[in-house]
Amino acid sequence: MSNNHLENLLLEINNEGIATLTINRPEKLNALNEQVLTELEKAISEVNKNRAIRVLIVTGAGEKAFVAGADIKELNTLNKISGEKLSSRGQQIFDAIENSRIPVIAVINGYALGGGAELAMACHIRIATDNAAIGLPEVSLGLIPGYGGTQRLPALVGKSKAMEMILTGKPIQADEAFRIGLVNRVLPADEAVPHALNLAATIMKNAPLAVAAAIEGVNASGSGNGFAREAMLFGRLCETEDFTEGTSAFLEKRKADFKGK
Ligand code: COA
Repeated sequence: MSNNHLENLLLEINNEGIATLTINRPEKLNALNEQVLTELEKAISEVNKNRAIRVLIVTGAGEKAFVAGADIKELNTLNKISGEKLSSRGQQIFDAIENSRIPVIAVINGYALGGGAELAMACHIRIATDNAAIGLPEVSLGLIPGYGGTQRLPALVGKSKAMEMILTGKPIQADEAFRIGLVNRVLPADEAVPHALNLAATIMKNAPLAVAAAIEGVNASGSGNGFAREAMLFGRLCETEDFTEGTSAFLEKRKADFKGK
């Protein structure tokens, strides 16, 4: 996918197979309007189809915001039908991120509010810059989080803290987000992307099909059939070339050469 198709996103793919997707609407603090959502949907689908890409990093343009939420100008005109439709659509796009075959790392470089916090929560790993503020302020607009926030936040930080954040609508700072387990790491702004690239490189040393299955397994936790899914995925991996290669390489005391097969 080339950037020619994208007005509000930048997609860069490096030689090692790490893609970086930047929400690029800094004059509106990268707020998610209809067009950004559409482009995000397309980009996620294209990235997942591109076998050369092994890890995706998602971040926001500028120094102030990751994403300051859904576009409030567009929210203002919603009714019962269009509101439910928008919420379902946002959920579907963020589900595609959560269920992505490749790991998605959010670099939260500033405000991650409303839909921005929900986007970060749909990613698999979150790195925050030390100026990040994360919150779900929807009740202050007469709404509730609609892109999965009421479901993912309790899963990440527990019901009690999630209730507090959602009912007060007050954002928390990066250090507090780290303390409650909402983000994996807090770093100065100039160290966040390099750290995400290092994490990506570490993940990419592992067998790609196992990484994809691990995402599927972890995502199935709490679904009611997570253990059965884990056993099924485990068995399926036993038939892969990379499983034979990984276990043989260990026994032969050499580095595994994974092919993603
Ligand atoms: N939707 C639409 N526009 C937004 C936006 C959003 N969620 N968040 C910021 N913007 C726009 C502002 O309207 C402003 O546009 P303008 O220059 O045309 O007036 C521009 O982005 C810069 O924002 P501004 O409010 O001037 O920056 P600030 O530093 O004073 O405040 C925030 C930053 C994040 C605290 C503030 O923008 C804010 O509260 N945004 C809304 C957050 C929110 O409620 N998100 C949840 C939506 S569900």
